[in-house]
Amino acid sequence: MTVKMIIDTDPGIDDAMAIAYAAADPNIEVIGLTTVFGNVYVEQGTRNALHLVEMLDLNCPVAEGAAKPLEIPLDPPSHQVHGAEGFGGLPAPTPSGKAISESAAEFLCRTCSENPGEVVICAIGPLTNLAHALRLDPHIAHTAGKVVIMGGSAEVGGNITQFAEANIFHDPHAAAEVFAADWPVVMVGLDVTHDIICTSQDFDKLKAYAPKTGGFIKAISSFYLDFYASVGLTEGCHLHDPAAVIAAAYPHHFQTRDMPLSVILDGERRGETQPAPGASTPLVSVCTGVDDDGVKARFMAAYRALS
Ligand code: BDR
Ligand code: CA
Repeated sequence: MTVKMIIDTDPGIDDAMAIAYAAADPNIEVIGLTTVFGNVYVEQGTRNALHLVEMLDLNCPVAEGAAKPLEIPLDPPSHQVHGAEGFGGLPAPTPSGKAISESAAEFLCRTCSENPGEVVICAIGPLTNLAHALRLDPHIAHTAGKVVIMGGSAEVGGNITQFAEANIFHDPHAAAEVFAADWPVVMVGLDVTHDIICTSQDFDKLKAYAPKTGGFIKAISSFYLDFYASVGLTEGCHLHDPAAVIAAAYPHHFQTRDMPLSVILDGERRGETQPAPGASTPLVSVCTGVDDDGVKARFMAAYRALS
């Protein structure tokens, strides 16, 4: 069955990899992109999302979302990881399209209410838009089919700090609201994304399979690989955001454990997600294991099918 998906994103290099993967997978119908600050400023993210829609022939709307977190000041964008414009060393793209007039939260609420139970929201940036959507119309907790997030970590520590994963760190209050709402949430965190590694040779293959899309991914990946190498990960880069899209459509590749989660809101552990046994908040389905070869093979095969 085809999965109807809205991808909430801060594109971003691995975001672009995830969106291109989703566009290539015949079992996924991308029905919209919503943008949020994070890897880049939200205006840059919206521009990049519009470029991806045009390059990938996605034919879906882009709705711009939050420019800043719910309560804390905006962190500087992660230009050292994703490049000054979000696509590594490439210059700013110049899409011809525009974002729709609805905000990301409005688009999420309306689309879920028009397709009750059918839409998977795959959130691969800070969770601010989802929190705004819950505030705008709490009923979205019942109309959204499923929420799959790339973010957090249950047992392996953080990436942006020793304790926190970047997406949760950038807006911990939003993450806490998303985890506290009564909707089905799957957390695809560092516990599993650290096991899924793509090498420079893999990106060469993507380019060979699909010169346009794979070539673009190859071009943006070199900056990302250089960042990873600069922090000692010379083997390759993690497929964080593609893992969430794949988990949304192919959950059998992942082992999960249901647990309540708490989020540390401030201090040096800001953004840390912690299992909270006995807490009264809803259970989150936390990915604790992954068939990394299966996920990687699926990622590669989707681009191969584009050729
Ligand atoms: C997450 O943070 C961002 O840098 C990536 O795009 C991904 O969503 C990984 O921690
Ligand atoms: Ca992202």
